[in-house]
Amino acid sequence: MNPQAYESLLSLCEQRRSYRQFSPEDTLGEDVVEAILKLASHSPFASGRKNWKIAVVKDRETVCALADAVQEEAQALAAKMEEEPAAFFLNYAKSFTFFRDAPALFIPYCRESATMKSLLRENASAEILQWDRDNLTKSLSCAAMLILLAAESLDLGACYMTGPLLAGKKLNQVLGLAENVLLGAIIPVGHKL
Ligand SMILES: Cc1cc2nc3c(=O)[nH]c(=O)nc-3n(C[C@H](O)[C@H](O)[C@H](O)COP(=O)(O)O)c2cc1C
Repeated sequence: MNPQAYESLLSLCEQRRSYRQFSPEDTLGEDVVEAILKLASHSPFASGRKNWKIAVVKDRETVCALADAVQEEAQALAAKMEEEPAAFFLNYAKSFTFFRDAPALFIPYCRESATMKSLLRENASAEILQWDRDNLTKSLSCAAMLILLAAESLDLGACYMTGPLLAGKKLNQVLGLAENVLLGAIIPVGHKL
């Protein structure tokens, strides 16, 4: 038993709230970025293979290009809906681009490996392939949670965002990542205003 460790972790978890207000004038030092990455690197992972990485995007142009891609995709989807659901969806989708003004984005990602597909070949069922892919997203999720806790421990604001992923592979293009790379989330991190 280590009650002190428990209490400090509990208070960190109690304090943490999704933070969505960032300033385009804010900057995040490399020491802070490294501290977050160091902590997240201890995340557990499935399949006995740590094949995920975390991209850090600080370049304003790239951050805006990602937000634009998400916004465009939301508009394109809304165009396929009737008026009322489209208005509802576009309002909801505003929460997918809160990261636009953030000084840094942490993006856990991994290569889409199809371990079970290569083992089972034509005998791989849809369920087992889904299980294989879910293991990747769950591993990315664990890393995302540690990024949030690391940010909170440094008194920084952060938000776990998967809404932006609706833009799919367009995000890969902006990030210069291959088609077969799976993004886990976009996590904006910045100083609390
Ligand atoms: C898988 C996942 C995806 C999320 N995606 C978004 C998102 O796209 N945009 C957003 O503003 N918040 C997003 N959130 C944050 C949730 O809205 C937030 O965690 C929830 O409302 C609870 O609030 P709290 O984090 O302050 O405790 C996401 C959270 C999770 C776990």
